[in-house]
Amino acid sequence: MTQLSVNINKIATLRNARGGNVPDVQKVALDCERFGADGITVHPRPDERHIRRSDVVALRPLLHTEFNIEGYPAPEFIRLVLQVKPHQVTLVPDTPDQITSNAGWDVKTHFNFLSEVLETLRKAGIRTSLFVEANTEMIHYAAKAGADRVELYTEPYAALFPENPQKAVAPFVEAATAARREGLGLNAGHDLNLDNLPYLHQHIPWLDEVSIGHALICDALYRGLESTIHAYKNSLRS
Ligand code: PXP
Repeated sequence: MTQLSVNINKIATLRNARGGNVPDVQKVALDCERFGADGITVHPRPDERHIRRSDVVALRPLLHTEFNIEGYPAPEFIRLVLQVKPHQVTLVPDTPDQITSNAGWDVKTHFNFLSEVLETLRKAGIRTSLFVEANTEMIHYAAKAGADRVELYTEPYAALFPENPQKAVAPFVEAATAARREGLGLNAGHDLNLDNLPYLHQHIPWLDEVSIGHALICDALYRGLESTIHAYKNSLRS
């Protein structure tokens, strides 16, 4: 069964807009779990414009499901995840000012750096995932560098899906097959929504986890959080 990890960064963005504690990020995370989410994802950025380091520390003992922390492996990020010890760390190649992750790692170029970081996390007992594009060479290098999983960057799938779903999914099935061949676990995320998620899942039913934020929180404005989480979970049953 593919797990749904809800990315709650948008909740923190909303809270930060007014400076108080509404909406309450911790309560929303616990409600996501109560409504059926299999995990919670956060992406603390250096400027703390959404999730703050203090949120990450406070959430750790409260959560009952998988805690996934995404980020660029700068020394400060590594210190935070070694302190918090989440179940999974997803490494992304973002620059600090990036609006959102918009590319996967060039694992070949950054091979030595990533291998060292992955080893540090592995020694701390944290499962690792590398954010990569649907590129079999990068997946090969991710396995060689010692990652436990890869997360496929699904924005190109989401962009082409409305026009040509078959063409959109083909490189992702190839990449997912390569990940399975390399013995890697498989996550996916970015721009997944209730329209494009069922088709992705039907073609790659061995996905371990999807990490979804933006569309899910937007859907919740209309449907409510509980019904939205049920709808995403149902998309993963098809
Ligand atoms: N995976 C990674 C690595 C991300 O950086 C993000 C966005 O923070 C997501 C998944 C979730 O993407 P979206 O908000 O488009 O669902």
